[in-house]
Amino acid sequence: MCKRGTGNGEWGTGNSEDALAENRKIEHLAVIMDGNGRWAKKHHLPRLAGHRAGAESLDRTMHWCKEAGISYLTVYAFSTENWKRSKGEVAGLMKLLSHFIKAKEKELIKNGIAFRVIGRREDLSPKLQKEIVALEEKTKGGDFTLVVALSYGGRDEIVRAAGVFNAEAQRRRERGESLEDIFSSCLDTAGIPDPDLIVRTSGELRISNFLLWQAAYAEFYFTDVLWPDFDKAEFDKAIASFSKRERRMGGRLK
Ligand code: FPP
Repeated sequence: MCKRGTGNGEWGTGNSEDALAENRKIEHLAVIMDGNGRWAKKHHLPRLAGHRAGAESLDRTMHWCKEAGISYLTVYAFSTENWKRSKGEVAGLMKLLSHFIKAKEKELIKNGIAFRVIGRREDLSPKLQKEIVALEEKTKGGDFTLVVALSYGGRDEIVRAAGVFNAEAQRRRERGESLEDIFSSCLDTAGIPDPDLIVRTSGELRISNFLLWQAAYAEFYFTDVLWPDFDKAEFDKAIASFSKRERRMGGRLK
């Protein structure tokens, strides 16, 4: 059974000031946290030290998002392609994730931050899967959600969703639901609004298989800053850049 998603809204007709102001609010920020390896190299440190610095940067960014009134932060922590990295780096990243989950539990609960994972979680070790489920359960109902993409690939997510969609589309179509809304609700991100802004650090100008369906109307912000160096000034720049954009969404309003 697909979980019900928020869908993609209705086709808009007008272009009122209110609607435009509403469109300048960021409800969901997504980040491709790139450049940990280069940061480590620059500081003559092992790659894993770069990932540790990246985890600290994520921690800071999560709090800035909350303060800025953003409701969802999705971060690309490990892609389906990242399994091709050296055994040592993969093991180190998995250990870091497990450490993050344990170390942050109290802080997440205290600050009303819900934790959620998207991606092929069955690829992760049974121990890590259990830790994830436990943290998701304990933090349910928070007013801010940290979504971590793990063993995640946009194409993989779409292909998996297609299987569920096939089983459900006809029945739900008869109930009057739109095909796009039904499909959205079959994705890992069911119930999460599409990202308004996607930030990619470290100067790369690619989407790299991240939130392919959900990014349809997202704005992008690219910066040369390496992820561990992503500071409050850069965060504010990304937000300010978004607030200047006029989002017509192909003629449809959010
Ligand atoms: C890309 O930089 C980054 C990753 C593949 C891993 C991202 C992981 C973290 C920031 C830390 C762990 C996350 C959590 C949720 C605790 P890269 O290694 O490709 O950098 P490079 O392109 O400079 O080599």
